[in-house]
Amino acid sequence: MLDRLTLSDFRNHAALTLVPAPGFVCLFGENGAGKTNILEAVSMLAPGRGLRGAALSEMARGDGPGGWAVSAELGETRLGTGTLAAAPERRQVRVNGATASVNSLAEWLSVLWLTPAMDRLFSGSAGDRRRFLDRLVLALEPGHAHHASRYEAAMRARNKLLAEPEGADPEWLSALEAGMAEHGAALAEARARTVAGLSEALAAVPDDLFARPAIALDRPVPTDLAALLRVNRGRDAAAGRATEGPHRQDLLVTHVAKRQPAERCSTGEQKALLLGLVLAHAELVAARRGAPPILLLDEVAAHLDPGRRAALFERLAGRGQVWMTATEAALFDGIGDATMVAVGG
Ligand SMILES: Nc1ncnc2c1ncn2[C@@H]1O[C@H](COP(=O)(O)OP(=O)(O)OP(=O)(O)O)[C@@H](O)[C@H]1O
Ligand SMILES: [Mg+2]
Repeated sequence: MLDRLTLSDFRNHAALTLVPAPGFVCLFGENGAGKTNILEAVSMLAPGRGLRGAALSEMARGDGPGGWAVSAELGETRLGTGTLAAAPERRQVRVNGATASVNSLAEWLSVLWLTPAMDRLFSGSAGDRRRFLDRLVLALEPGHAHHASRYEAAMRARNKLLAEPEGADPEWLSALEAGMAEHGAALAEARARTVAGLSEALAAVPDDLFARPAIALDRPVPTDLAALLRVNRGRDAAAGRATEGPHRQDLLVTHVAKRQPAERCSTGEQKALLLGLVLAHAELVAARRGAPPILLLDEVAAHLDPGRRAALFERLAGRGQVWMTATEAALFDGIGDATMVAVGG
C-alpha cells in the first residue's frame, strides 16, 4: 500500500500530497476536479502507459514547467517516476533514489484498475483485451513485463528487416525469430498460468451480486514459434507485420449463468463481469504474493445500485488499498473506515 503519494505538475495538479491509510481511499469532488488524474498518477507507479494509455507528454501540467513527477512511499521504499522538460517522452524511474528500469516497478507494487473507458473492453479490440490480460499477469508475475518488452523489440526489428528492399539477412532474421520464440513462449506460458489460476479462483467465488465470468485464451501459441516465423517470412513481409504469435492472442470471456459471450451481454452485465474478474484476481494476487494489489476503481460506486455498492464495500474491506472516485461523498456512505479526500475543494 501507499503511505504517501505526491504529484508534481501532473495534469491539473501543480502540487498534491496525500497520506492515505490502508484500506479504502475515497476521492470525491466535482467533474473535472482531478480525481481520475490522481488514479492515473498511481497507475504510473506500475510498468505500462497507465490507466488512460496516454502519452507521457500529455501528463505534464499545461501551465507547468514541462516535466512531471509522481512519487510514493511504501513503508521504507520510495518509488518515483516522471519526465524532464527536456525529454518529455522519456520516462524516468527511481527506486530509493537510484535510477531503475520501468519494468522493475512491478517488483514493488501491483496496480489494477477499472475505469469507465473499459466499458467497451469486451466489444472492443483484441489488443485492449490482451493488454488487460497482461496487466493481470503482471500483477502475479513481475517478470512478464520484461518478456513483453523483449518480444516486442525483436518483433519490431524483424518487421523492419523484412521491409528492407534489398532483402533481409537470413541469419539476422533467425536470431530475431529465436528471440521472439523464447520471449513469446514465456509470455504465452505466463498468460496460460494466469488464466488457469484465475479460473480456479473464479470457480471458488459464490455466484453473488457480481456476475461470474469464465475465461479462456482464444488460441495456444504454436509449439515451435521460431519455425513458424521462418515459414511465414514471405507472408509477413507482404503483410508488413508478424501474422502469428502471442501478440495475436485474445482473452475470451463468458457470462457463466447466462451462457453468453461477454460481448453479447448488456452494458450492466458487462460491467458486473469485469468487476467480478478484477475482484477474483485481486484475491488471487493477495493469496499468491502475500499482498493484495492496489485497486483503482474509477466511478464504480456510481454505477452500482445501493445493494451492490454495499456488497462491493463488504467484499473489499480489509483487502488492501482500494482507491475509489465519485462526484459525491454520499456514494461512499456505509463504507466504514476510509481515508476521505475532497479533491479540488
Ligand atoms: N496536462 C494537463 N494539464 C492541465 N490540466 C489537465 C491536463 N490533462 C488534463 N487536465 C485537466 O484535468 C481536469 C481533471 O480531469 P479528471 O479526469 O481527473 O477529472 P475528474 O475529477 O475525474 O472528473 P469526472 O468526475 O468528470 O470524471 C480536466 O479539466 C482536464 O482538462
Ligand atoms: Mg473522472
